[in-house]
Amino acid sequence: MLALVCPDKEQPFVVQEVPLPQVEKNEVLVQVKAAAINHRDYWIQKGQYANLRYPAILGSDGSGIVAAVGEAVNEHWLGKEVIINPAMNWGNNPAFNGPDFTILGLPRQGCFAEYVSVPVTQVHAKPTHLSFEQAAAIPLSGLTGYRALFTRAQLKPGDTLLLTGIGGGTALLMLQMAVAIGVQVYVTSGNDAKIDKAVQLGAAGGVNYTMNGWHKLLQAMVNGFDVIADSAAGDGFKNFVDLAKPGGRIVFFGGTQGPITTLNPQKIFWKQLNILGSTMGTPEEFSAMVALFQQYRIQPVIDEILSFENAEHAIRKMDDATQFGKLVLTLNK
Ligand SMILES: NC(=O)c1ccc[n+]([C@@H]2O[C@H](COP(=O)([O-])OP(=O)(O)OC[C@H]3O[C@@H](n4cnc5c(N)ncnc54)[C@H](OP(=O)(O)O)[C@@H]3O)[C@@H](O)[C@H]2O)c1
Repeated sequence: MLALVCPDKEQPFVVQEVPLPQVEKNEVLVQVKAAAINHRDYWIQKGQYANLRYPAILGSDGSGIVAAVGEAVNEHWLGKEVIINPAMNWGNNPAFNGPDFTILGLPRQGCFAEYVSVPVTQVHAKPTHLSFEQAAAIPLSGLTGYRALFTRAQLKPGDTLLLTGIGGGTALLMLQMAVAIGVQVYVTSGNDAKIDKAVQLGAAGGVNYTMNGWHKLLQAMVNGFDVIADSAAGDGFKNFVDLAKPGGRIVFFGGTQGPITTLNPQKIFWKQLNILGSTMGTPEEFSAMVALFQQYRIQPVIDEILSFENAEHAIRKMDDATQFGKLVLTLNK
């Protein structure tokens, strides 16, 4: 089969012939119709990720058709249109991922290939209102966003939410989920046009985080946030302590801008703030996220659909943060 291979650290992706994956007991073989890129794929290509091993076939997000079933798997799966949950072996405690937790697409072969094999417990029926390309855009980011917002930060209708870096794949899906349930959402971005697009998707407003005093502009617009969700961290994070309402929840799941600097402890304890880390999610959260997309017929925003041959272009777009929405790959484009 053909696959998009990451040959080594800081090397461009290449499309090449590789062996078809084995289908073990309790697994299914999925013919991949579409796959989506996450920042994780970028970090792995850059060599900035844990337990790296090259060459690697990455791709945590995929949708497709079940082409074969392994021993002990019901044959009713054959021909089914599915999306794949990339969070594997969560463990027994819903509060945190256990020691065997892994993410599809390193160490296990991911979705940047014609076929991928996964345990049958990882596949879910593709939401009927979504194309394969749209369905491939939701698994990793949707799951991460769902747990961060609803499980960790206890977001509810009527809350006021700040989403930073709205051009990000996860931030955009969080916007769509939050707007669907009746949350008032504000955004930040490094690009004014992305704020305008977020407003078209239902955001109440936003500010550009490259402006001096951006958090003061937000304070003038909103009387505090119940929930702030971030994946940039870095220097800007300290401002969330001022932007959160007393008792507010600040949840983060990424560190794109590096370590968090100078948090004011007095403000955090006096305001009874909750600062929460979050990663991916449980199988139950994945099911709940897919159900939410189905219930509100949410269509994920796709920036561009590209061929495997153009994966490098997509990764550079992510590096420059010029995308708005998910970057989706297909073999047949
Ligand atoms: N822990 C987990 O389970 C998990 C899951 C998913 C992602 N992540 C991490 O979360 C981060 C985002 O992932 P993604 O796939 O959503 O990435 P992405 O689609 O590549 O989005 C990255 C976005 O970060 C924003 N950004 C850059 N500098 C910023 C700043 N100073 N302040 C606020 N936003 C800034 C940009 O938004 P604008 O374009 O609007 O400026 C950019 O589009 C990555 O670090 C990723 O590794 C972690």
